[in-house]
Amino acid sequence: MPTIHLDHLIKRYGDVEVLHGIELEMADHEFTVLVGPSGCGKSTTLRMVAGLEDVSDGEIYVDGKPVSHLEPKDRDLAMVFQDYALYPHMNVAQNISFALRLARRPKAEVDAKVKEVAATVGLTEFLHRKPGALSGGQRQRVAMARALAKDSSIFLFDEPLSNLDAKLRGQMRAELAVMSQRVQKNMIYVTHDQIEAMTLADRIVVMHGGYIQQQGTPEELFKHPVNKFVAGFVGSPPMNFLHGDIEERDGATFVHGDGFALKLEGAKAEAARTHTHRNTILGVRPSDLRFDPEAPSETALTLDVMVSEYVGAQSVLLCKCGSEDVMVELNSETPVAMGQTLKFAVNPNGVHLFDSENETAI
Ligand SMILES: Nc1ncnc2c1ncn2[C@@H]1O[C@H](COP(=O)(O)OP(=O)(O)OP(=O)(O)O)[C@@H](O)[C@H]1O
Ligand SMILES: [Mg+2]
Repeated sequence: MPTIHLDHLIKRYGDVEVLHGIELEMADHEFTVLVGPSGCGKSTTLRMVAGLEDVSDGEIYVDGKPVSHLEPKDRDLAMVFQDYALYPHMNVAQNISFALRLARRPKAEVDAKVKEVAATVGLTEFLHRKPGALSGGQRQRVAMARALAKDSSIFLFDEPLSNLDAKLRGQMRAELAVMSQRVQKNMIYVTHDQIEAMTLADRIVVMHGGYIQQQGTPEELFKHPVNKFVAGFVGSPPMNFLHGDIEERDGATFVHGDGFALKLEGAKAEAARTHTHRNTILGVRPSDLRFDPEAPSETALTLDVMVSEYVGAQSVLLCKCGSEDVMVELNSETPVAMGQTLKFAVNPNGVHLFDSENETAI
């Protein structure tokens, strides 16, 4: 199984540079997810690995060998794209085995392979159906199976679930996670859906504007985002951000903003106290805010409820803290009225601070 190394990859279209030196190492059997907003360069990166786009500068190494001069067919990889084109006149088995039959592999081998991959993606009972008689998710799985049948060591996926509805998407996501465990291949998966990224990835690479912002395990990114962009991108509902100033008072360190003065604890207090600027951005996830009418003011945010959205067991409340927006979650059983003022205790381990100028984590 190969390792993949993107060595300072640069992509230019004419005079415009869209990838500015992508540096990435993917270990054996790793499920790597490239995630980021539209236009950040995810597909371009993937297409360069596939050989569908030229590399403007830098190199791609597979198992230590440069591959950027190789044709796509010589790169030992399989791809699944968003618009997975199946052959409509062929049944599922024929679609899956197309490449193998083209390569004139023995019939017994082809049949065995079709059986094996169909079982992997849960399509055994649909082998004789034509794509037109399958659901979107089933068609998606045929595309996956077709890629798996190639027996490549690297799999590339570009938003393969984006055509599906929310329920099917969730179902396919779970199946993909199971399947990737089973096949143990190198997967590079592109999505702009951070939930997909969090649930599937061994490692997430967050991109923005042609740069890698951060890479790490889902947990690392969630707990220790290096900047405000990553902090706001990873996690759902997203992190809240409040502007404030770092202040020393009575031997303690506070973040003081419009409508709040939060006392900092431990290492966070020390980092804030020694930071060069006094202006900061406080970041707190909704999951680190707990409804608590008794919480002391210096460990809580006092919020005015603007809108309550019922989403089942939890309600999501859109609130104001002073002039800034804050989103919190609350047990739906708790009665809340618009315009009500509620206190939410801040989990001291869930406090993030960012430099207000360059937005890096403090
Ligand atoms: N053929 C091209 N010519 C010029 N610019 C291009 C070309 N293809 C892509 N780009 C630009 O490169 C940048 C990265 O595009 P890319 O398709 O990689 O984004 P993406 O992250 O996959 O976005 P999305 O989530 O919308 O698919 C964009 O600014 C895009 O406009
Ligand atoms: Mg794309």
